[in-house]
This record gives sequence, structure tokens and C-alpha cells, in this order.
Amino acid sequence: MTIILGIESSCDETGVGLVRLRTDGTLELLADEVASSVEQHARFGGVVPEVASRAHLEAMVPITKRAFETAGLELSDVDAIAVTCGPGLAGALLVGVSAAKAYAAALNVPLYGVNHLPGHVAADTLQHGPLPSPCLALLVSGGHTQLLQVDDLAGKITEIGSTIDDAAGEAYDKVARILGLPYPGGPPIDQAAKRGNPNAIRFPRGLTGPRDAKFDFSFSGLKTAVARWVENHERDGRAIPVDDVAASFQEAVADVLTAKAVRAAGELGIGTVVISGGVAANSRLSSLAAQRCAEAGIELRVPRPRLCTDNGAMIAALGAQLVAAGVRPSSLDLSTDPALPVNTVSV
Ligand code: KG4
Ligand code: ZN
Repeated sequence: MTIILGIESSCDETGVGLVRLRTDGTLELLADEVASSVEQHARFGGVVPEVASRAHLEAMVPITKRAFETAGLELSDVDAIAVTCGPGLAGALLVGVSAAKAYAAALNVPLYGVNHLPGHVAADTLQHGPLPSPCLALLVSGGHTQLLQVDDLAGKITEIGSTIDDAAGEAYDKVARILGLPYPGGPPIDQAAKRGNPNAIRFPRGLTGPRDAKFDFSFSGLKTAVARWVENHERDGRAIPVDDVAASFQEAVADVLTAKAVRAAGELGIGTVVISGGVAANSRLSSLAAQRCAEAGIELRVPRPRLCTDNGAMIAALGAQLVAAGVRPSSLDLSTDPALPVNTVSV
């Protein structure tokens, strides 16, 4: 049995996770500690990189201690360390990578610099076990919206489509701002939408025309449509039906994401769809995906919300895949790459 320590610091969450890789290749989640600096960014409506970096620096050691306490383990129990080395905010990534290097050198264990994006997909293995090969991952977060064919989480990932402008989570955050809801916008829009009518306003479904790229996404037109709709209403002196706008916006996002994922799985002959990343915590996205996947005879896997948003356990889970596959560890002079491409799983 092998204990893997995972460290995540690519955005505004400091995450430290501990995972046990059993001899049969399955994983046991031992600890998943997260400290978020989200409240420090709220008044700016987005993450402030310098503020995030400083918060990581302050949280890293206490959060690591807490993870070992939760797991009932000592530092000396660790067999390998995985750390997010990209993509993400340069300064934020540096804090996690520096901490991971220090632990790896002090404990004399292998270090794996890993990609945050496949990390989100790996999160699902902590809840639902090993992924079938191939599977189709719909990765929806604050910074990314991608469809990925995952043949092997430890190495073979191919991008099928991605957003040409805003990420899905970014659209949530911007629309929340337009509606006067707090940052990050996903959770309050999800809540407001439950009280609203999803068919109240027909917002545009980006890139769904016959000549559009089949598996790419676009959310900036949707965001602008919501802004125009709200402006027109305000100009006429009418109150904004926030719940209906939230529900109608959310319906447009969930509709496009699920339609493209199901279509891609069908065309590629893939039987399993995994949805991960912060927006996977969205209640309408998962319910519509469940309905459409069931109709198409596709298995759907969505990790619980806590595993969808950024955390260290998902990085430990990806590290476990690399250890199990016998992938060569990174060198101790590993650097960060804020623009690491999704098909580079480890460096
Ligand atoms: O994966 P994540 O935690 O961080 C990134 O790597 O970006 O995703 C954060 C994003 C934010 O844009 C947030 O608004 C969105 O995930 N989000 C949601 C929900 N919870 C978080 N979006 C829609 N519905 C939710 N329930
Ligand atoms: Zn993320």
C-alpha cells in the first residue's frame, strides 16, 4: 500500500489531500483539507493573484498539518507527493510547488508535478472507483470548459472541444455580478434558479448552429444577452425577476453543455461521461446530464460537490494513477507552467 500526498494551489483554494493506493489499484480517501481565500477576492468580483499567493503561503503549513491529523498519519508515512504545477496563477502555483519540493526533499520521496485539469477528472475515482477506458470528460470550471477523451488518466488525454471565449464558471460569475448576486456566482445562481422559471426567457445557445464547431463552446454571447435583457428591463423601470433570469441563464448553460457532451460520446462511441470541475456542482447540470445520458444509454459519473471544486485530494488521486502506472517522477528542479496544456498530464 502506498500513501500519496497531494498539494493544490493553482487558484484561490489551498488544498492538501492524502490518499491510499491499495494493491488492487483502488483508492481510499484519507484526508481532504481546503482553505479558501475566496472571501478576500469577493469585493473585486474575481481572484486577485497576489492576494491568492499570500493566502496560500499562510495556509500551506497549517492545512498540511490538519490533513495529517485527520488521516492519523505522520509525514514519514508518505510514499510519494503530487503537486499541481499548472495551469493556473503563476505566483499561486509557485507556493504549492515550493512546498511540495521541500517535503519531497526532506522525506526523500518521489515528486510528481501534475496537471490541474486531469486532476479534476481524477477526483471522480475517489468516489466511483477506476475510470473505464475510454471515457469522455466534461471539464467545467472557473477557468476551463473542455470536452476530453480520456484513454488513460496517467498519460493519454485528447481535447475534443473547448470554449472559444468565456469558461462556464466565468459566465456564472459575470452573470451573478449583473444580477447583484455575490461572488463566486455559481452557488447563488444555482439557488436562485431553483425558485425561478427556466423557460421564462429564451437565452441564446452558443455555437449550436449547423455550421458551428460541433464540440466547442461559447458563453460570452449568452452573458451579453443576459446583460442586454437586464439593461432593457431597467431602462423601462421594471423590476428584474432575478430568479427567472438565473433559471433561464442556467438552463441555457446546462442545455449546451449536456447536449454537446452526449453528442460527442455518441459520435466517438464512448459509453461513460464524467463531469468535473467547480460547475459540475451545479444541480441543473447534473440533473439534465442524468436525464440525457439515460436516454442515450450512457453511464454518467459526477463526483460529489466537495470533490468537484478545487482540492488536494484530486491531485493525490492523479498522483496515485501515475504511481500505479509506473510513470517517471518529476525532477526536483520542476518548474510551474501557468499555461500547461491539458494533454501533458505530468511533467
Ligand atoms: O474548479 P473550480 O473550483 O476552480 C477553478 O479551477 O476554476 O471552479 C470554480 C467555478 C466558479 O466559477 C464557480 O462560480 C463555479 O465553479 N461553481 C458553480 C457552482 N459551484 C461552483 N457553478 C455553477 N453551479 C454551482 N453550484
Ligand atoms: Zn479547478
